[in-house]
Parts: sequence; C-alpha cells; structure tokens
Amino acid sequence: MKGIILAGGHGTRLYPITIPTSKQLLPIYDKPLIFYPLTTLIEAGIKEIAVIIKTKDQQCFFDLLGDGSRFGISIEYFFQDDPRGLAEAFIITEKFIGNSDVTLILGDNLFYGESFIKLLKEDFSNGARIFCSKVLDPERYGVLEIKNNKPVSLVEKPSKFISPWAVTGIYTYDSSVIKKAKILKPSKRNELEITDLNKVYMNDGDLDSKFFDQSVLWMDTGTFESMKDASEFIAAIQKRQDILVGSPELAAFKNQWLSKKDIEKNLHYSNQYAETLLRLID
Ligand code: DAU
Repeated sequence: MKGIILAGGHGTRLYPITIPTSKQLLPIYDKPLIFYPLTTLIEAGIKEIAVIIKTKDQQCFFDLLGDGSRFGISIEYFFQDDPRGLAEAFIITEKFIGNSDVTLILGDNLFYGESFIKLLKEDFSNGARIFCSKVLDPERYGVLEIKNNKPVSLVEKPSKFISPWAVTGIYTYDSSVIKKAKILKPSKRNELEITDLNKVYMNDGDLDSKFFDQSVLWMDTGTFESMKDASEFIAAIQKRQDILVGSPELAAFKNQWLSKKDIEKNLHYSNQYAETLLRLID
C-alpha cells in the first residue's frame, strides 16, 4: 500500500492567512496541519508517500518534511498548481502508484481514535474503500445514501437531506483507480470529483463502505472555526492524557521504523513538542 497526501488548493476560505503560505502548513495547536494526515498514513503502516503541493510551496514543504527519512519513510513530491479536483491526484501520481494499492488522504483532514486505525488496517484486496462519519451538516460533504442497510448512492454536497453519513477525506483504491480517474469528466465546479470516482466503483459493485463509531473524531479543518476547534481539542487531549496526537516521529517509533537515537539526532530544537516526544519515547 502506498499513500498520497493532497495538499494543494488555494485555501481561499482562510484568506488572508493563506495568501503567502499553504493551508496544510498552518498550525493545529503545536504542529503543522499536514503532520496529522501524515501520521495517520504512518499509523496505517504506509512507508511510501507522495505529497501533492503547489509549486510555489515546494521549499516550505521540503524544509518541513524533506525526503521523509527523518520520519523513517520516503516522500516524493508532485505538483498541482490549480485545484482541478481530488480525483486528479491519481493522474498526477500515476507513475508513483504503478501497480500498488493506494490510500489518499486530504491534507486538511484530521482523524483521531483507536478504532479508526483498526478500520484503516483491515485487509484490502481490490476495489475501493470509503470511510463514513455521521454528521449534523451533511450538505457540506460527499454523502452516502443508505437504504435497507445497504449503500445505494453517493451525492456530492446534497442540497436536500439524504443521509447523515458524510464520506470523509480518506480513501483506499486498487491500481485501477488511475484508469478510472482518467475517464472522469469535470463537474459543474470544473473539478474531477472524488465522488464521481467512487460512483464508478459503486456501479461496478466494488465499493466497500466503513462506518465510524462514536469514538472516532473526524475534522475537516478548512475554516477558521474548525481550525480553532481542532487546536483546542488537540491541546486538551494532549495535556490530559499525556500523549502527542499527530506526531509522525512517534508513530514511526511505534512502528519500529525509527530508533530513539534517530529521533534525537534529527530533533535540532528544544521546545514543548520536542520535550514531550523525547519523554514519550523514553
Ligand atoms: O473533507 C471531506 C470532503 O472533501 C468530502 O466529503 C467530499 O466528498 C470531497 O469532495 C471534499 O470536499 P471539499 O469541498 O471539502 O473539498 P475541498 O475542495 O475543500 O478540498 C479538500 C482539500 O483538498 C483541501 O485541503 C484542498 C485540497 N485540494 C482540493 C482540490 C479540489 C487539492 O489539493 N486539490 C484540488 O484539486
């Protein structure tokens, strides 16, 4: 399994903050936003990761993540300067995917919970897998409609209520995703929609849907309010439980991809993040 983090987009909802920088580099409490999806992929056991960014942000992402070796993984960078849709990710990274299965995670999505990682690690053989979370505002998301306990349709940002099950920003596909993405037509908002891609799998009877229980937290941090909520949540849970959420070094250490020495060597600063990390791996 390979991984892709989609970290492009103009982040206009966060202007003026995102005029000079990328949304995925903004802080959620004590870490850059992209650390959270990156950690999720590492927790899922994924070592080869493609990060899709805008060309102008290249240096900043490279300063932060490098070639991935400081996290015990490999990172390759790909470029998307205009947001032509989530499904374009598979066309851009065609060579990187090759014949592998692939998990795509959106660079602004934050997931938390033991049972989520268990779901993510479940065996995957072929087709596509989506992960759904019950929400109060389904009109903001791709939504899975269910009838008689069976998924029957997918709708992107439904104007009328069809179901509370939002399709979250993490998806697993077999390598036929490249071919399927290439035949999609741009939507009304001129994007290659991930929902249309998932519909192709659904129509072929190849879409597996997983559902989060109440213990899993999912946030899409695209607004000022959701960034504040996510920061407050991370601050509170880290302080109370004495943990670090969204630390790629800690996740790699738990996978035995990095030793204590590797982490110490790469931590060239001393602050709350570094001190907590060192204490936890000790
Ligand atoms: O968060 C989950 C939702 O993400 C799903 O429920 C929807 O089905 C899916 O379409 C998507 O909806 P959004 O409207 O929230 O997507 P948005 O345009 O905000 O893009 C999500 C992230 O991906 C954002 O950080 C920017 C980045 N992006 C987006 C596009 C369209 C790219 O890097 N490239 C793109 O072409």
